[in-house]
Amino acid sequence: MNTTLVINAKGGVGKTTITTNLASYFAANGVATAIMDYDPQGSSLHWLKQRPPEVPTIHGANGAQSQTTGLRSMGKYVPPTTEQLILDAPGGPSRLLLQEILGRTSSIVIPVAPSVIDIQATANFIKELLLVGGIRHRNIRVAVVANRVRSSTTVYEPLERFVSSLGLSFLARILDSEVYVEAAETGVGIFEMDSEDSVEQCREFMPIIDWIRGIEPVAAPKTSNVIPLKQSTAS
Ligand SMILES: Nc1ncnc2c1ncn2[C@@H]1O[C@H](COP(=O)(O)OP(=O)(O)O)[C@@H](O)[C@H]1O
Ligand SMILES: [Mg+2]
Repeated sequence: MNTTLVINAKGGVGKTTITTNLASYFAANGVATAIMDYDPQGSSLHWLKQRPPEVPTIHGANGAQSQTTGLRSMGKYVPPTTEQLILDAPGGPSRLLLQEILGRTSSIVIPVAPSVIDIQATANFIKELLLVGGIRHRNIRVAVVANRVRSSTTVYEPLERFVSSLGLSFLARILDSEVYVEAAETGVGIFEMDSEDSVEQCREFMPIIDWIRGIEPVAAPKTSNVIPLKQSTAS
């Protein structure tokens, strides 16, 4: 089982969006896929409930602590046949929870929103992950994804420099697009939409998929020429 954690100290930066689209890509390509939602808000599990019957099944597991009892859910089971497990983290996890989650993670994807404040907070979070999380010691790969980018954004450049100075990967710039909102609302991923409208989103997402499969980025994030499996077979 390959386990990918999608995390940032902040909420609203795209953790669930990245989680659900990664999971639906693998599921749409016949890979046994599960999501473990550690966020008490349960957005990934809610998305799973919305999935139409004709799209491939993704197993949902609940890793969140109950807000009323403090107890962990009974729904933490992940089928042993799972090949890709995606962990959707809560914003600002406790150190204890972080240690637990890191114990089962092989790769970490960190989405960052395009504001100076978010970028600063993320830089601090990455430093803490490296120090407290023992990332290097545990041999966990870490990569950053810029999310909700508007085409003129240059605000990421200092973050890109920071990320590469630590030897981490800057994988992709995900544009701000209604396509992600529509997918989130209908329980599908961008790779499962028939619409011509999602071609660009699928293309910009591929470097994240490739990296999870073990391929390190060789070119600038914008220039991926990998065509998603679903599209190449459909055309
Ligand atoms: N690239 C994007 N383009 C447009 N809307 C986005 C994008 N990424 C996330 N969103 C929207 O922003 C909101 C917060 O994203 P979400 O993935 O739920 O963040 P988090 O899980 O980190 O709290 C959601 O309504 C989501 O649909
Ligand atoms: Mg979320």
